[in-house]
Amino acid sequence: MLTDKRILLIIAGGIAAFKSLDLIRRLRERGAWVTPVLTRAAEEFVTPLSVSSLAGEKVYRDLFDLTDEAEMGHIQLSRSADLIVVAPGTADLMAKMANGLANDMASTLLLATDTPVLVAPAMNVRMWEHPATQRNLATLRADGVSFVGPNEGDMACGEFGPGRMSEPLEIVAAIEGAMKVGPLSGRRILVTSGPTHEPIDPVRYIANRSSGSQGTAIAEALVAQGADVVFVTGPADAARPHGVHLVEVETAQEMMRAVQGALPVDAAVFSAAVADWRVSSASDSKIKKTKDGLPTLEFAENPDILATVSQMAEGRPDLVVGFAAETDDVIENATAKRLRKGCDWIVANDVSPETGIMGGSENAVTLISDKGAESWPRMSKGEVARQLAERIAKTL
Ligand SMILES: Cc1cc2nc3c(=O)[nH]c(=O)nc-3n(C[C@H](O)[C@H](O)[C@H](O)COP(=O)(O)O)c2cc1C
Repeated sequence: MLTDKRILLIIAGGIAAFKSLDLIRRLRERGAWVTPVLTRAAEEFVTPLSVSSLAGEKVYRDLFDLTDEAEMGHIQLSRSADLIVVAPGTADLMAKMANGLANDMASTLLLATDTPVLVAPAMNVRMWEHPATQRNLATLRADGVSFVGPNEGDMACGEFGPGRMSEPLEIVAAIEGAMKVGPLSGRRILVTSGPTHEPIDPVRYIANRSSGSQGTAIAEALVAQGADVVFVTGPADAARPHGVHLVEVETAQEMMRAVQGALPVDAAVFSAAVADWRVSSASDSKIKKTKDGLPTLEFAENPDILATVSQMAEGRPDLVVGFAAETDDVIENATAKRLRKGCDWIVANDVSPETGIMGGSENAVTLISDKGAESWPRMSKGEVARQLAERIAKTL
C-alpha cells in the first residue's frame, strides 16, 4: 500500500501518456496522493482535464504561472513529494535531465529536487537504442535516478523491440520498491549470479556460459518488491542490477566466502552457475608449451554453496532457492537435487544448446518444491524473475 505517500507524477509527451491515466488510478486506489505535472508536449496526448479529474488535484503545467508560484513555488513543489515519477519518460526529457537543463516546468522541477526520481522510459526502439539516449541513461543512473523498463514488444509505431513503457502495475511495483513499502520491505535477500572463473594459471581459466542475466533480473525484481538485496556475482556479462549491495567475486571459493559474509538473510536465491571443480594444480606463472608433452591439470572439488547454506544447523534462511541447469531428464534430476541439497525450491531449466536459454533473453522453468513440479510457459527472464519474486513475497 502507498497510503498517504505523495507522488509527483511528471507526464511527458509520448504516445504512452494514455497509460499514465491508468497509473494515476492505480496509485490512488493504493492510497497515494498524486500531484500531476504535464509537459507542453504531453498535452497533445492527454488533456489536463482528464489528468486532474483522475488525480483529484490541480495539474501543474506552466513554470511562469504566478498563481502557482504564490501558492507553491516550483522549488517547494519539487521537494514536497516522497517520490518523483516520470512516466512516460521521453528521450527528450531524459536528455534534459542528464544535461541539467531547466527550461520548462518538468525539467526545472527535476533539477531543483532532492527527492528520489523514478523514470519509466517510453520511446521508439531506435530512439531508445541511440547512443545519445544510452549515454543519457548511464549518466542518470550514475546520478542516482532509478528506472523501470522499458519493456520489449510491439510498439505503436509498428516496430518491435525495447522501448515500450512498463505497464501501470509494473510501475506501481517499482514505486513501492523505491519507497521500500513493497511486500518484501524489511526483508534481506541474497542472490548469487553469473559464472565463476577457476584459474589454470594467471592468464587462463575454466568458465561456463552463464551470462548472469537471469540472476540480475531476479535481483531487480526483488528490489522492486522492496527487498534489501545482497547481490554476489561472478564475472558475468550481464549488467549489474541497480539498488543492490553488490559483491563481485571470481572463483567458487570467493563466492562461498561472500555468501557467508552476507548471512543472515531471510531468503537466498542461488542462481549462479558455480564451477563444481577448481584446478588444484593452478600455476602462479603462465604454463608454457613444451616439447615434453601436454600439461596435466589436477582438480579439487569446490565448496557446495547451495548444500552448505541449505543444511545450516543455525541461522538458515527461511527460504533457500537453488537453480538446476540440466540438459537431460530435467525434472527428475532437479527433483533429486532438491532432496540431496536440502533446499526448499529448485528452479530447473533445460540449458541444452537448442533451447537458446543459456545466454539468451528467455527462460522456460519448472519450479520444484515439496508440493511437486510446476512448469511455467516460456517467457522473458524478466517475467520469470517477477513471478519468482512474487512467490517469494507470498512465502516469506
Ligand atoms: C505522435 C508522436 C508520438 C511520440 N511519441 C514519443 C515517445 O513515445 N517517446 C518519445 O521520447 N518521444 C515521442 N515523441 C516526440 C516527443 O513528443 C517530442 O520529443 C517532444 O519534444 C517531447 O517533449 P517533452 O519531453 O517535453 O514531453 C512523439 C511525437 C509524436 C508527434
